[in-house]
Amino acid sequence: MGIPKVSLAFLVLVLSIMFRQTVQGSRRPACHFDDLTALQGFSRSLESNIGGWNWNSSSCCSFTGITCGNSSVLKERVVRLELGNKRLTGTICDSLVGLGQLRILNLSHNSLHGILPTNLFQFWNLEVLDLSNNHFVGSLPAVIRLRSVKYLYLSKNSFSGFLGVEFCKSSSRIRYLNLADNFFGEASLYLENCTSLQYVFLNGNGLSGTFPENLFLLQHLRVLHLEQNRFTGPLSYRIGNLSNLVELDISLNDFVGSLPDVFGSLRKLESLSASSNRLIGLLPVSLVNSASLSRIDLHNNSLAGQIRVNCSAMTRVTLLRLSSNKFQGPIPASLSSCRSLISLDLARNNLGGAVPFQFKNLQSLQFLSLNNNSMSNISTALEILQHCRKLTILVLSLNFHQEEMPSNVNLQFKSLKALIIPACHLTGSLPKWLSSCKTLQLLDLSWNSLGGSIPSWIGKFKYLFYLDLSNNFFSGEIPESLTGLDNLVHTTVLLKESSEHVPLMKSTGQNGPWLGYKDMWSFPPTIDLSSNKFTGPIRPSFGNLNNLHVLRLEENSLSGTIPESISEMTNLEALDLSRNNLSGEIPSSLVHLSFLSAFNVSFNRLSGDIPSGGQFLTFPESSFEGNDALCSNILRPCQPPQIPPLVSPGKKTKIVDWNFGIGAAVGFVLTVFFCFKSGWVLRRG
Ligand SMILES: *[C@@H]1O[C@H](CO)[C@@H](O)[C@H](O)[C@H]1NC(C)=O
Ligand SMILES: *[C@@H]1O[C@H](CO)[C@@H](O)[C@H](O)[C@H]1NC(C)=O
Ligand SMILES: *[C@@H]1O[C@H](CO)[C@@H](O)[C@H](O)[C@H]1NC(C)=O
Ligand SMILES: *[C@@H]1O[C@H](CO)[C@@H](O)[C@H](O)[C@H]1NC(C)=O
Ligand SMILES: *[C@@H]1O[C@H](CO)[C@@H](O)[C@H](O)[C@H]1NC(C)=O
Ligand SMILES: *[C@@H]1O[C@H](CO)[C@@H](O)[C@H](O)[C@H]1NC(C)=O
Ligand SMILES: *[C@@H]1O[C@H](CO)[C@@H](O)[C@H](O)[C@H]1NC(C)=O
Ligand SMILES: *[C@@H]1O[C@H](CO)[C@@H](O)[C@H](O)[C@H]1NC(C)=O
Ligand SMILES: *[C@@H]1O[C@H](CO)[C@@H](O)[C@H](O)[C@H]1NC(C)=O
Ligand SMILES: *[C@@H]1O[C@H](CO)[C@@H](O)[C@H](O)[C@H]1NC(C)=O
Ligand SMILES: *[C@@H]1O[C@H](CO)[C@@H](O)[C@H](O)[C@H]1NC(C)=O
Repeated sequence: MGIPKVSLAFLVLVLSIMFRQTVQGSRRPACHFDDLTALQGFSRSLESNIGGWNWNSSSCCSFTGITCGNSSVLKERVVRLELGNKRLTGTICDSLVGLGQLRILNLSHNSLHGILPTNLFQFWNLEVLDLSNNHFVGSLPAVIRLRSVKYLYLSKNSFSGFLGVEFCKSSSRIRYLNLADNFFGEASLYLENCTSLQYVFLNGNGLSGTFPENLFLLQHLRVLHLEQNRFTGPLSYRIGNLSNLVELDISLNDFVGSLPDVFGSLRKLESLSASSNRLIGLLPVSLVNSASLSRIDLHNNSLAGQIRVNCSAMTRVTLLRLSSNKFQGPIPASLSSCRSLISLDLARNNLGGAVPFQFKNLQSLQFLSLNNNSMSNISTALEILQHCRKLTILVLSLNFHQEEMPSNVNLQFKSLKALIIPACHLTGSLPKWLSSCKTLQLLDLSWNSLGGSIPSWIGKFKYLFYLDLSNNFFSGEIPESLTGLDNLVHTTVLLKESSEHVPLMKSTGQNGPWLGYKDMWSFPPTIDLSSNKFTGPIRPSFGNLNNLHVLRLEENSLSGTIPESISEMTNLEALDLSRNNLSGEIPSSLVHLSFLSAFNVSFNRLSGDIPSGGQFLTFPESSFEGNDALCSNILRPCQPPQIPPLVSPGKKTKIVDWNFGIGAAVGFVLTVFFCFKSGWVLRRG
């Protein structure tokens, strides 16, 4: 019954394929001879094959990435060649120019290299040329005649010489020019006659000199990126002539002087970034009254005065980043009328006083940093900010000098994921209200003067993956519940915010270097309880934390032995147990921690052999110093070899036996496991 049906179906299928091919063969245009030749030359100069190109067929219109025209005139002509992200290697030869009707050429995101043939830039009809993200080198050709080009992408290559003086004359229709991330260096930017330009990306090129004046003539400019160059000198008032600008980024240059007061003319400007320059002076009046600006990033300059933002005018502002400047005075209460504010960064200024009561109204606020100012009254700060229902990341480090951590209040932060209040010399204890921050993922209260014991509710945070309580006066035993933190026991789940990337700094010491992280989710999973007064044992249950990357317990008074189970923390990269009162031996199973790159057990009372093998071959002597009874075959032999014991019930042989037993058992289990897994013993279903 079944068999004839199947073969019938097969027959029908074969016939239909044959039929379709005949039909296609007769209808599909064979491609134009010039185009075929051009493509053959192109393909020969590549070092890799292009999947889906079959030279047995003369119809190149059906090749991968090729589109032929659909009008009667262009029926057999290739109008698009799109081979972006196809792992192509090799060079481009000039035969491509034979594709006389080409409109779109996209070879981006490949590994093409070499110098571009000069006549590649002579395409009469080409509208889009995308060669970005390759390894092309050399100057751009002096003569470029892309009469129809509108979009030119040459970013992320290693081009050096800039577009020639004739470029705008011959390619006057260009609208979009992306030359970012090359090596154009000290080029003269002859772009003034490209009057149709709307998008210009020149960032990341090491360009020098003053602000390129001729850009001011580009009246249609909407987006201008000049960041990460070496431009110097003051900013001109003529920026105000660019009245169609929507986005301007001049950050990471060396511009000096004040910001020109021209934002009244830039009525369409939504995003302004001028961070990391040497700008001084006040915020221009027109800037703080701009009705169009939504993102303002001026961090890392020397801007001064009070922060006077007119929120009645600035109704659109969502991001205000003024950190690392010299702003002073109190934080103005009027900022709270900027109801769209999502991200407010005022870190590293000279702001003082208390958080204004009106900040309660910032109902869109997700990120707030007041790090390193002279704020006072942490009680009112927290009491007010808890009303910002969307607040996710709160950074208050280096403020509130020697105040008391508010404890007997009912604070509740519904959305808080990161609470960062180190280096404030806060007194008191770990406050109970913290336990109601159910979504907390990162808690940093290091470098304060907090004391008392750690309550067991610390283990209840479902999402916590980074805990830093180091450099305080916490005492008592480390609660067992800490070793049950969900997010460190199981796969780490991060409640990531999609909206904003907020870069964070993390101190390595009170005055020590600060580490910058792209955002809080790139912090390594960490428990840091170092430099406190903890006593008692390191619990074997620490072994449960197999998602932990960094465990620091140094400079406490922990006693007892290092539990064998530490070797179950398979992701551990750094383990510091130095300067405690630990005794016994270093479990030899720790050699199985294959990611461990920093290990320190110095200044304890450890004894026995230092394990050999694995990562232990890489740890320096200072990882083990200050343990009088610790020995290794190289550094300090345990038993002088010249006294061979007559009987052998020595400790050492015992360890070896025991090691061997474990090793054999593990080996056996692994062998059996792999046999099963590979189907050697049981065939897989
Ligand atoms: C192309 O034709 C040659 C010889 O006619 C044949 O050996 C080859 O397999 C064909 N290639 C494809 C991809 O059809
Ligand atoms: C033909 O091409 C033009 C432009 O490339 C396009 O706008 C049009 O939709 C196409 N027509 C057909 C029938 O594919
Ligand atoms: C070129 O191709 C890449 C990869 O397919 C794509 O990401 C890019 O947007 C294309 N460029 C243009 C200008 O469409
Ligand atoms: C731009 O055009 C003007 C007027 O045609 C001309 O004088 C000038 O030399 C041109 N500049 C460049 C760089 O081509
Ligand atoms: C350009 O700016 C200058 C000075 O700000 C002004 O006098 C001139 O009218 C502006 N030109 C245009 C076209 O906006
Ligand atoms: C701050 O700006 C200076 C240049 O003015 C730069 O050298 C430095 O790297 C910037 N610092 C940060 C943290 O961005
Ligand atoms: C603030 O902006 C409003 C609305 O644009 C305006 O009426 C008011 O005069 C501005 N206040 C100041 C001090 O500039
Ligand atoms: C805090 O700010 C002061 C200047 O206001 C600066 O000297 C110091 O380096 C900053 N500290 C940190 C850790 O950023
Ligand atoms: C903080 O402010 C509150 C309310 O204004 C006040 O009662 C309290 O005394 C202040 N605390 C400190 C330490 O200044
Ligand atoms: C270290 O532990 C031993 C007991 O194991 C105890 O006698 C000693 O006082 C402890 N030393 C310190 C400094 O805590
Ligand atoms: C280990 O800790 C001791 C004491 O804190 C320190 O002196 C030593 O440099 C550290 N060694 C390593 C390798 O971290």
